[in-house]
Amino acid sequence: MNKIHAAITAVNGYVPDYVLTNHELETMVETNDEWITIRTGIKERRILKGEGLGTSDMAVPAVNGLLKKRGIGADEIDLIIFCTTTPDRVFPATANILADKIGAKNAWGYDLQATCSGFLFGLATGSQFIETGKYKKVLVIGGDKMSSMIDYKDRATCIIFGDGCGAVLLEPNEEGYGVIDSVLKSDGSGVPFLHQKAGGSVSPASHETIDKREHYLYQEGQAVFKFAVTNMAEVAAEVMERNNLKADDIAWLVPHQANKRIIDATASRTGVSPDKVIINIERYGNTTNGTLPLCLWEWEDKFKKGDNLILAAFGGGFTWGSIYLKWAY
Ligand SMILES: CC(C)(COP(=O)(O)OP(=O)(O)OC[C@H]1O[C@@H](n2cnc3c(N)ncnc32)[C@H](O)[C@@H]1OP(=O)(O)O)[C@@H](O)C(=O)NCCC(=O)NCCS
Repeated sequence: MNKIHAAITAVNGYVPDYVLTNHELETMVETNDEWITIRTGIKERRILKGEGLGTSDMAVPAVNGLLKKRGIGADEIDLIIFCTTTPDRVFPATANILADKIGAKNAWGYDLQATCSGFLFGLATGSQFIETGKYKKVLVIGGDKMSSMIDYKDRATCIIFGDGCGAVLLEPNEEGYGVIDSVLKSDGSGVPFLHQKAGGSVSPASHETIDKREHYLYQEGQAVFKFAVTNMAEVAAEVMERNNLKADDIAWLVPHQANKRIIDATASRTGVSPDKVIINIERYGNTTNGTLPLCLWEWEDKFKKGDNLILAAFGGGFTWGSIYLKWAY
């Protein structure tokens, strides 16, 4: 019997309608379109507006569209891995909430928290359940409502992040297509540079934490930039080297959309030419767990069966990694 790989057999995405442009941000904090564009490459990002709406509400249309494309029912899903840093609630898992909303009656699920590398970690984890033969249909979702934890008075962070969600379906493939290899890393010494100060068990919500604005994302941008620019590039190069892949063998480089300058550094380190690098940061900003599946969704029509894709990400914590996969359709 041939080895079973976990192949992506369908992809879909959802971004909210509301467009927050650089020009609108100019009316909210002291910034300007030119500064944001030069430093990050971002022109606009999407924001989920509406009382009582959370990350799962973006996943519902993403997953329902995916199931329709693949022509299967929600009851056929075995497992849901929901990669998110902005779960609907601290508990229960957003995967459970989503399963109920879409009618995935036969699935179990859990949330996976690895900040901006979450979707990669989820893809690697979900693949194991397929490769062992245990499950036939695994949903891996990456989505975040970053606007729920962004301080729109902090010009250094509010320009970067946006809301969005994407989803892929993993199914067994015995023809050599699917997830081939991954290099994944975690380093908790990065905590001081990018984290949420309060709201967890170390510092539960109180009047004091609210007054000190500690429920917003805290970032030391320059430190994060330096770490990201080196590590995302290195790990993408590592997964290529150990699979004997040269730049010309790569059909598409799919980088986490954190900052155009970090993307360019990764492309340059791997040698992949700019026309093969997927970039949509100018329209969505950094949607954290959403960036990679949203890229796959938007470029799906350009992919060909057998294309070599290199996915790479970097995130708070720190977390980073790269996945090599062969597109299956
Ligand atoms: C956040 C980031 C864009 C800032 O760019 P930078 O070149 O490092 O800028 P600095 O933080 O050094 O700030 C330079 C100046 O611009 C100012 N500035 C910060 N945000 C600004 C904004 N939106 N508009 C105008 N000026 C701004 C700073 O206050 C600082 O002013 P000062 O020199 O008078 O003190 C950049 O550090 C970055 O992208 N970091 C990585 C973030 C990231 O990817 N996070 C997610 C990881 S998954």
